[in-house]
Amino acid sequence: MSPPRKLHIKSYGCQMNVYDAQRMVDTLAPEGFVETSSVDDADLVILNTCHIREKASEKVYSELGRLRVAKDEAARAGRQMSIAVAGCVAQAEGAEIIRRAPAVDVVVGPQSYHHLPQLLARAKSHGRAVETEFPVEDKFGFLAAPKPAAIRARGVSSFVTVQEGCDKFCTFCVVPYTRGAEVSRPVAKIVDDVLRLADNGVREITLIGQNVNAYHGEGPEGRTWSLGALLHRLADIPGIARLRYSTSHPRDVDDTLIAAHRDLPALMPFVHLPVQSGSDRILAAMNRKHSADDYRRVIDRFRAVRQDIAFSSDFIVGFPGESEEDFAATLALVRQIGYAGAYSFKYSPRPGTPAADMRETVSAAEMDERLVRLQELIDGQQAAFNLAAIGSTVDVLFERAARNPGQIVGRTAYLQPAHVMASPDIIGQILPVTIASLERYSLLGELSGAVPAPPASARMTDSSHMITGA
Ligand code: SAH
Ligand code: SF4
Ligand code: F3S
Repeated sequence: MSPPRKLHIKSYGCQMNVYDAQRMVDTLAPEGFVETSSVDDADLVILNTCHIREKASEKVYSELGRLRVAKDEAARAGRQMSIAVAGCVAQAEGAEIIRRAPAVDVVVGPQSYHHLPQLLARAKSHGRAVETEFPVEDKFGFLAAPKPAAIRARGVSSFVTVQEGCDKFCTFCVVPYTRGAEVSRPVAKIVDDVLRLADNGVREITLIGQNVNAYHGEGPEGRTWSLGALLHRLADIPGIARLRYSTSHPRDVDDTLIAAHRDLPALMPFVHLPVQSGSDRILAAMNRKHSADDYRRVIDRFRAVRQDIAFSSDFIVGFPGESEEDFAATLALVRQIGYAGAYSFKYSPRPGTPAADMRETVSAAEMDERLVRLQELIDGQQAAFNLAAIGSTVDVLFERAARNPGQIVGRTAYLQPAHVMASPDIIGQILPVTIASLERYSLLGELSGAVPAPPASARMTDSSHMITGA
């Protein structure tokens, strides 16, 4: 047997990319690839790119410049290193990448990762391979027919893709162009994935999609299921103790989703619900198709069925035409809702999107100043939310050994990291923890009460996946 080849993946962007990176690892495992954490000994380096931020492509090109040096060095040492560019910049730039960075062997868009082995073979025989089409027939071919090892648990918490793409066309956003139209996976395939993950000791599932609550997958009986219906089905799967979903759009919160929060104890009371702005004028210019009051009403519907529910959000400051008054409306909305945390970004024009042609731009200085004011407000809310946990006893799902010897880290319902001194046997279990203090963003506490013996299947030492903002 030939020695394993080493694969290094560097991922940027949203949780979809984190998930896709695992899928690429799984797709390449049968080809003899094993993961390595360093570029230097890699036989294949994949840059899994994101196109959401300013100068995203330029950053990819400078990274590729550095990789070319590594590739040359490997060649001098008699080793061949291949370079692949994946993700949303690959989708947006296509063959242009190879023109500007000839060291690149493969360019592959998010819809074609299941073709990676063939693309690598084609690059070997033809020198280069590019695939950034949106296949019409089976966009989920890659997800629908995983290799035997593909559904492999890597910890107690796992992502499962339920839908991809977006039809919303917010005027600032590239996602509808890089990820294509919205498509939902059939219920049976998702249930299958979750059953297999549960068999492998996974306790928490986060359903992901660019617009996860627009989910409208085909049910086993041929009818269309909503996200709420899907969550009800998944909550029945033995072993699955926690369910989450991300990212939602305020317009797609239907009654079945609210009912799921009312009825399912496993559905965590923490929802990422981006609003972007508190000003109706700006929301209209963004083509969000909801007003600030619509958003407040959506929040109220969640709160009516679960008093302990908390929210996070995304905000854009300095969208073209945003006045001080518009920005004040955003601050007012944040004060009124009270977030457990939020991501805030300065608006940056994405070429090809309608907002990129809007003329009334906000100055860099104003954007900076608004970002600071918004972040101060949000940081204060987040700190207050975290401090409120001190002295309380909360359920923690333990995930892995922490960096400090003897400590085990898990997460609360609100994804706050919580550390306790305990035996690694508790990994995979949900146990009550009395919170004693807060250190930066981590809660420190003690297990309360006796610790029952863990089920054998729950003993895992692998690290799990964190939710990371885009
Ligand atoms: N589908 C999700 C998230 C999409 S991208 C949603 O609809 O909410 C993640 C976040 O990046 C967005 O919520 C937005 O706040 C930010 N973002 C997207 N495009 C941007 C741009 N051109 N400039 C600044 N921030 C942007
Ligand atoms: Fe982008 Fe989200 Fe708007 Fe879709 S809904 S266009 S992904 S910001
Ligand atoms: Fe970025 Fe693409 Fe995700 S642009 S945020 S990696 S969908």
